[in-house]
Amino acid sequence: MTKPRQPAEPFRIKSVEPIQLLDRATREKKIVEAHYNIFRIDAADIYIDLLTDSGTSAMSNRQWAALMMGDESYAGAKSFRNFEKVVRDIFRKEYVIPCHQGRSGENLIFSTILKPGQYVLNNTHFDTTRGNTQHKGGIAVDLPCAESDAPVPLPFKGDMDTEKLEHFIDEHGTDEIAMVIMTITNNSVGGQPVSMKNIKAVSSICKKHGLPFFFDCARFAENCYFIRRDEPGYENKSIRKIAAEMFDACDGVMMSAKKDGLANIGGFIALNDGELYQKLTDLMILIEGFPTYGGLAGRDLEVLAVGLQEVMDLEYLKNRVGQIKYFGEVLKQAGMPIVEPTGGHAVFVDAGQFLSHIPTKQFPGQSLAVAFYVEGGIRAVEIGSLMFGGTDPVTGEKLSAPRELVRLAVPRRVYTNSHLDYIGDVAKIITGRREALKGYKITYQSRFLRHFTCKLESISTRNVEVGS
Ligand code: F0G
Repeated sequence: MTKPRQPAEPFRIKSVEPIQLLDRATREKKIVEAHYNIFRIDAADIYIDLLTDSGTSAMSNRQWAALMMGDESYAGAKSFRNFEKVVRDIFRKEYVIPCHQGRSGENLIFSTILKPGQYVLNNTHFDTTRGNTQHKGGIAVDLPCAESDAPVPLPFKGDMDTEKLEHFIDEHGTDEIAMVIMTITNNSVGGQPVSMKNIKAVSSICKKHGLPFFFDCARFAENCYFIRRDEPGYENKSIRKIAAEMFDACDGVMMSAKKDGLANIGGFIALNDGELYQKLTDLMILIEGFPTYGGLAGRDLEVLAVGLQEVMDLEYLKNRVGQIKYFGEVLKQAGMPIVEPTGGHAVFVDAGQFLSHIPTKQFPGQSLAVAFYVEGGIRAVEIGSLMFGGTDPVTGEKLSAPRELVRLAVPRRVYTNSHLDYIGDVAKIITGRREALKGYKITYQSRFLRHFTCKLESISTRNVEVGS
């Protein structure tokens, strides 16, 4: 098999952070001490950490320089004005509200506009948008396109199903719907992009019915890159122009800037509705901070103002998306089935298929995540029955996960091709002994979001009815 080729990084390394691979016996001890839950392992005991691409980016020399320019004034800081200008330019909205991260923006929005019992429609809610909707008494409805989980490599599997959207609106009426959200890229279906065509179609449906249309745009630049690469008519447009066209189609945005802000913390809301802005900032002063800093330091705002622009650099994006594609090839060549095409920020391994001898109730994804740590000191995260199964803490309903996946999210500008090749070697070893991998059962779990803190135990008997 020929080795896939990965484009060389469009940067060189100026500052390094040592990482160490513990010996196997120590890794085995650590995973037992962590009760087989990788969230319970200290970062210092991980060699390559692919838990998330959120807040884990490496900053550029320009961002480090900008950090020194932070104006830490409580009100009306210069750093806020810089940040505000950049956000207005890219996202094309008048009012800019900084927040300390994505979910605090979600909390503000849903606390303000959602009436209990109303629906929030989304191509697919990310966990925190779903959680914040439910926390304010709303009902989160996902309307992913039919192709979103098809085992075929289509270009825009993140799209929303517009027929279902129209049907839902006709059935329930606009009073029952608080807002429509488009998550770009669509994290929960594998970081898959949304096409401009779909964005515009959803936008015109919302306009027709007078429904607010917002973006959850944590990975907006990656989405723009996919549009440029794969959607006819955009091949010669700049990322900035594509972003402008995209954002002109919506009423407002919420962004976790810990992803495509190339920063370690931060987020914001931007919108054109002055009345809503007033309501949001009134609440914000109570829970997040004065409207010109929003839970962030002036230096964080400076870092974001640079990061939001750097992330639109075409060479950067080519490398970023190319690196994820390369990583997918490496894992495939190591014998692991992956979700295709690879999206913008992570590779998702189909653990249900890879470890078909482990029943869903014994968490095949967790078994693979544990194997990545024990075999190679790599941290990945289960996105399957452990994360989404169990019992709904509010309704008592039995929950189920659509698929048993393991996500290997790649931090931006942090790991090199050699790290990815190393993971490929570890994956080959795991493939070689996959029949020996065992399932797990839960020995402790919390009521909400159990995967973060649960404790597990290895089980060796096949087809035992445990877990749930
Ligand atoms: N929206 C999307 C699409 C996200 O992926 C995330 C976070 C958030 C909102 C919440 O933002 O973490 O800044 O509060 N995703 C991270 C992940 C945690 O690992 O995918 P936050």
